[in-house]
Amino acid sequence: MVNLDWNNLPFGYVKTNFNVRCYFRDGKWSEPEISDSEYINIHIAATGLHYGQESFEGLKAYRGHDGRIRLFRWEDNAKRLISSANGIKMEPVPVELFKEAVFTAVRLNEKFVPPYGSGASLYVRPLLYGSGPEVGVKPAKEYTFIVFVTPVGPYFKGGIKPVNMLICRDVDRAAPFGTGNIKVGGNYAASLRAIVRAHDEGYGNVIFLDSKEKKYIDECGPANFFGIKGNTYVTPQSESILPSITNKSLIAIAEKMGMKIERRKVAVEELAEFDETGACGTAAVISPISKIVDPDTGKIWEFCKDGKPGPVSLKLFNKLVGIQYGDEPDDFGWITYVEA
Ligand SMILES: Cc1ncc(COP(=O)(O)O)c(C=O)c1O
Repeated sequence: MVNLDWNNLPFGYVKTNFNVRCYFRDGKWSEPEISDSEYINIHIAATGLHYGQESFEGLKAYRGHDGRIRLFRWEDNAKRLISSANGIKMEPVPVELFKEAVFTAVRLNEKFVPPYGSGASLYVRPLLYGSGPEVGVKPAKEYTFIVFVTPVGPYFKGGIKPVNMLICRDVDRAAPFGTGNIKVGGNYAASLRAIVRAHDEGYGNVIFLDSKEKKYIDECGPANFFGIKGNTYVTPQSESILPSITNKSLIAIAEKMGMKIERRKVAVEELAEFDETGACGTAAVISPISKIVDPDTGKIWEFCKDGKPGPVSLKLFNKLVGIQYGDEPDDFGWITYVEA
């Protein structure tokens, strides 16, 4: 293992040894190539630069108590990248090629997979973009697919920490028939004004509402929203939110724990009825929400008043993290080992 301060890693970029690159040219994908450079050579007229033909994924590899490396639900990320590619007319990366590139990138950087017990993991970032030149607005004929990895610390040191959220009405991250349900760079660019303002005002993140009526909760910056009401797990149904793999996993766990699941529109006023609320995604797993502020109406909803995550959120968090690190049985078949 390389010598890093594993217990104090930030959620940021750390250089690793290798990345993997594949090129779509003349109607076919190349074999994965291994690179030790952190840089790419890109055509000045690449559609990825001009017209936002770009999509990315995020998944994690975990080292278990047995030293083995586990990838969590990689196939779901492969499928979501296909859906993103189709959504902005890019050449999709076949599932098998995605698998080979991701597993090769993790294997080659095995020394960067943090030790068990550090709470850290290896973040895997697949990236697909139009690399062929066009000047008119049209899809590229050539595409580049890159997978790089970087070790990341736990989003919140020492487990899960409640955060405050700011409701946003004056910025839309996605339009009703736009690209909110796929993972393309444009959505993130559109969300930055709102996220930076929320951070500047001391909030953990922003809650976006549906763009049309501004009545229903969409999602929380780069994470899905959920609420716990008694024995029910409630999460928004919307055409413009990213289908989160973490949310899907929490739903499966909650269902198995005997909870009722409701995936439906969640009106802002319903916040008053939840016992717990949270944001979920690969980075933090669950960020419990302690306070939601609506700057337009002046309303404030408070949860976890003792500063601690709610019991249901904590139970869901512990179960999911337990599966990811191999401390809990992989009852759902979510883990694939990366053998050396
Ligand atoms: C906009 C958005 N919503 C939700 C999520 C959570 O998705 P996942 O659980 O698959 O990481 C992410 C992160 O990928 C995201 O960027």
